[in-house]
Amino acid sequence: MRAAVIGAGPAGFYATDQLMTAGFEVDLYDVLPTPFGLVRAGVAPDHPKIKAVTRVYEKTAAKPGFRFFGGVELGEDISRAELRDRYHAVIYAFGTASDNRLGIPGEDRPGSYAATEFVAWYNAHPHFSEHEFDLNAQRAVVIGNGNVAVDVARMLVLDPDELAPTDTADHALAALASANVEEVVLLGRRGPAQAAFTNPELRELGELQRADVVVDPAELELDEHSARWLETEASNTAKKNVEILTEYAQRPPSGKGHRVSLKFLRSPVAILGKGDEGAVTGIRVVRNRIEPGENGALRAVPAGAEEEIACGLVLRSIGYRGEPVDDIPFDERRGLIRNEGGRVCEEDGAPCRGEYVAGWIKRGPSGVIGTNKKDAADTVAKIVADAEACALAEPEQPDRDAIATWLAERVPALVTWEGWQAIDEQEREQGAPHGRPRVKLVRLEDMHAAAQRARSFSA
Ligand SMILES: Cc1cc2nc3c(=O)[nH]c(=O)nc-3n(C[C@H](O)[C@H](O)[C@H](O)COP(=O)(O)OP(=O)(O)OC[C@H]3O[C@@H](n4cnc5c(N)ncnc54)[C@H](O)[C@@H]3O)c2cc1C
Ligand SMILES: NC(=O)c1ccc[n+]([C@@H]2O[C@H](COP(=O)([O-])OP(=O)(O)OC[C@H]3O[C@@H](n4cnc5c(N)ncnc54)[C@H](OP(=O)(O)O)[C@@H]3O)[C@@H](O)[C@H]2O)c1
Repeated sequence: MRAAVIGAGPAGFYATDQLMTAGFEVDLYDVLPTPFGLVRAGVAPDHPKIKAVTRVYEKTAAKPGFRFFGGVELGEDISRAELRDRYHAVIYAFGTASDNRLGIPGEDRPGSYAATEFVAWYNAHPHFSEHEFDLNAQRAVVIGNGNVAVDVARMLVLDPDELAPTDTADHALAALASANVEEVVLLGRRGPAQAAFTNPELRELGELQRADVVVDPAELELDEHSARWLETEASNTAKKNVEILTEYAQRPPSGKGHRVSLKFLRSPVAILGKGDEGAVTGIRVVRNRIEPGENGALRAVPAGAEEEIACGLVLRSIGYRGEPVDDIPFDERRGLIRNEGGRVCEEDGAPCRGEYVAGWIKRGPSGVIGTNKKDAADTVAKIVADAEACALAEPEQPDRDAIATWLAERVPALVTWEGWQAIDEQEREQGAPHGRPRVKLVRLEDMHAAAQRARSFSA
């Protein structure tokens, strides 16, 4: 049995490993010449231990029956129909790379950016290396109260000496070293009890070398609904977050040169600047109050009063969003591949034989790396059950060598696992003299050149 997995992020690698354990040969595809998805292009560079999970994926890649096809974009280079012609099962694990928008005036002014782009830029994603971010502002506002918001806030105030030994893209190291940002305001639309931070990430904000964390005690006064919810239903994470924030509110500032300030119950209504296209000069927010929604969840509703926060940089960190690829059934409202428990299905629920989905594009852009392991296992269990019931696809051209020939003709710059290993080696060699784990290649041409050297060597 032969399977294709599209997307070499955590979900793709876990699914690949589990499929191989179940006896499948697996071809793992990625649009980039490099594997590992958001572990390489999302996880903050000052968290190198988290990136060490790639060693697990390398073990998967070393197993017999595994092939990596990098630099192949589903929907551009190859089509869904071509995959169905060649594989008994296809798992789509291509993540949710786009950003959500606020839909407010001024969102596209110079100085207002999506955190998704900023993250990809400082992590050397080749599609974002040419982006420019004006970091000339003294105050930055980061909209959103999730862990990505914490990551970008931290990146803006880390000391250049702390960033220097990381694998942050060289262009970002230079830009961040000359940035003027002294204060980052983290803005939540709901209250402290509803913040989506996890405890270690929130705690880390209180341990920054160069920045004080600042919380006005008034920001932590809980409304009746939140107070009751915290007492009765809240997760331990939410309870602990409120405790950590309470401790922050009691801290006297220690006089560090930078600040991260947390403000709650405010939604942006406009990003301000001169004229229609002038650079960001501030953000107008409306104060919110918390109310129980129809489904019982506590939601933010505007309470009327508006205020302006002067700033020169706005990063909206309000979640990722999936995009449709080719004609794979897509739920536009949720921004996900339409599926039932991992089986891709049509709008009427009819399953698409031999097509499956895993990771963020299956369940939405939430959860840590490990969450994708169980998620992939659930999907692979469906594939195994369908195999036993003879309900997988019956491809017309499943020959292993013919697939390699077809791809090599279609994508002349195809990158194999050996090609990636050559890129990896070059990056590590570039980093070693500077005590850095790697200096990432940021241009596709350079990646392909490194991969090509591996090909010439093996030929
Ligand atoms: C900024 C950020 C920081 C994070 N930090 C942490 C952390 O510190 N710790 C933690 O546990 N979790 C962290 N996470 C969460 C973790 O990264 C995700 O849970 C995980 O990466 C989701 O895995 P995935 O495989 O579904 O998607 P992804 O990791 O996004 O992988 C999808 C892959 O598909 C490829 N692809 C996309 N489109 C195509 C196409 N058309 N054809 C072929 N390939 C395609 C992409 O190049 C990518 O390699 C972070 C997330 C973000 C956004
Ligand atoms: N170190 C780590 O472990 C790490 C690091 C980064 C990311 N991750 C994980 O990756 C996943 C994605 O993280 P994320 O931060 O992108 O998403 P997230 O955790 O879902 O947080 C998104 C935030 O944006 C807010 N938001 C959404 N729409 C908004 C709007 N229109 N206006 C104002 N605020 C809005 C949300 O508020 P509401 O709650 O009110 O909707 C929420 O605070 C999470 O599971 C996260 O834990 C983990």
